[in-house]
Amino acid sequence: VRLASLVVAIDGSSGSGKSSVSRRVAGVLGLACLDTGAMYRAVAAAALDRGIDPGDGAAVAALARAAHLEQSTDPAHESVVIDGLDVTAAIREPRVSAVVSEVARNPEVRAELVARQRAVAEAGAVVIEGRDITTVVAPDAPVRLLLTADAEARVARRAQELHGASDAAALAATRDSIVERDARDAQVNDFFTAADGVVEIDTSRLGFDEVVDAVLQVVVARVPEA
Ligand code: DC
Repeated sequence: VRLASLVVAIDGSSGSGKSSVSRRVAGVLGLACLDTGAMYRAVAAAALDRGIDPGDGAAVAALARAAHLEQSTDPAHESVVIDGLDVTAAIREPRVSAVVSEVARNPEVRAELVARQRAVAEAGAVVIEGRDITTVVAPDAPVRLLLTADAEARVARRAQELHGASDAAALAATRDSIVERDARDAQVNDFFTAADGVVEIDTSRLGFDEVVDAVLQVVVARVPEA
């Protein structure tokens, strides 16, 4: 495997730290980085923007199939534009997080977005992160990783991201939404268990740099050229 064609597939739950870790790993290796959760979020944001009920499966699927999605794969620059609407900030808003699971469990939406993600994987030189990358999108990637974290660690990280704090109130506000959404999402793809050949890294008691180092060690072990 040459670096130019390398695909690093990373799955994990919310609060596993996979997005920031993936971006850093891509930066270090000089690879592109695709945040697939942002694609589901962009479709959800566009549906809300157009007054489409996220539960209207046919309407959301039609939106996804027709959508012109421009997403930066530069790990140093996050930007998502759907049909000319810049949703880079909106996709992180709680109103989008609240409905994105419903969009992501729509099989027609998944079929459309998985096809687009596979095209990116086939082009190579990319770190792709999500929930079904090691199993569905890029099951043949030479490097496949699952980042796990116990519920306490996930909630603490998300509270820090969402509220800039991990005091008792922030933790309480975060716990329900995170645990519930992960449970819902895991019904579609089990991202709590590593599939065959997937290396699991438990990040619960690791700092950011330690997780990045652990991922890079796996890359070097699997791809000596890296
Ligand atoms: O990682 P995230 O929180 O940005 O993901 C947003 C939603 O999309 C979340 O509900 C899980 C879902 N998702 C998915 O089903 N498959 C992926 N490959 C990535 C995200």
